[in-house]
Amino acid sequence: SRHAVVTGVSSGIGAAIAARLLDEGWRITGLSRTAPAHAVTRLHWIPADLSRPEGLPEVLAPVSGVDAIVHAAGVQRSARLGELDPEDGSLMWRIHVQAAGVLVDTLVDRVADGGRVVLVGSRTMTGVPGKSQYAATKAALPALARSWAAELAPRAVTVNVVAPGPTDTPMLRDPGRSRTPPVMPPLGRLVRAEEVAGLTSFLLGPEGGAVTGQTLVMCAGASL
Ligand code: NAI
Repeated sequence: SRHAVVTGVSSGIGAAIAARLLDEGWRITGLSRTAPAHAVTRLHWIPADLSRPEGLPEVLAPVSGVDAIVHAAGVQRSARLGELDPEDGSLMWRIHVQAAGVLVDTLVDRVADGGRVVLVGSRTMTGVPGKSQYAATKAALPALARSWAAELAPRAVTVNVVAPGPTDTPMLRDPGRSRTPPVMPPLGRLVRAEEVAGLTSFLLGPEGGAVTGQTLVMCAGASL
């Protein structure tokens, strides 16, 4: 069966992606800081702190035969100007951007021809009041995806960003240290993690192979 390496599998969007891919018959190696939710215990879990990306090559040493990489791990620490915490900015930069780089760079030679890479971005990438540092880290992902998509095209490996709007996950329900709560999108409901998993599944599936270097926004109208 096909083998996907998925980060952020312990909750929310990453857990939904892992569950969906398992249902489709994929074998999953899941990385996250905390243990995965019950629904995805069939995956092979590797504990990893992605805020320390320099440790990833060692963590990934036993991983081989990769058909897809999905980087869903993330945190949201948001605040308005005057209250920015540079450590929060650094944390998000390391998990969202630097870990993506080390993850894909470490595994690239183990990815099969025709393989797939999906980075979970955010519709906030265009800039949103009160979320500047978070938005900036997510804005870096389309640049990574377009660069890598061009580099990997000769191997028929696709690289895309899936950019959700407000999604019903623990991150959204408990914003933790975020000072700027989300607002309800125009469609009058939140995005469901299963919907983000469905779009990811499409990109990883047989009909997704012609989409590369793109950023697909799924935001219930939040970006309108
Ligand atoms: P969540 O809080 O439910 O899950 C986050 C996942 O990231 C967990 O599996 C956690 O273990 C992992 N993680 C966090 N810090 C880590 C670290 N230092 N090392 C290893 N793993 C770590 O959040 P959610 O909502 O599922 O978010 C997943 C992704 O989707 C994130 O990249 C987030 O920025 C993005 N996103 C979420 C939206 C939302 O409204 N929930 C909207 C747009 C994007």
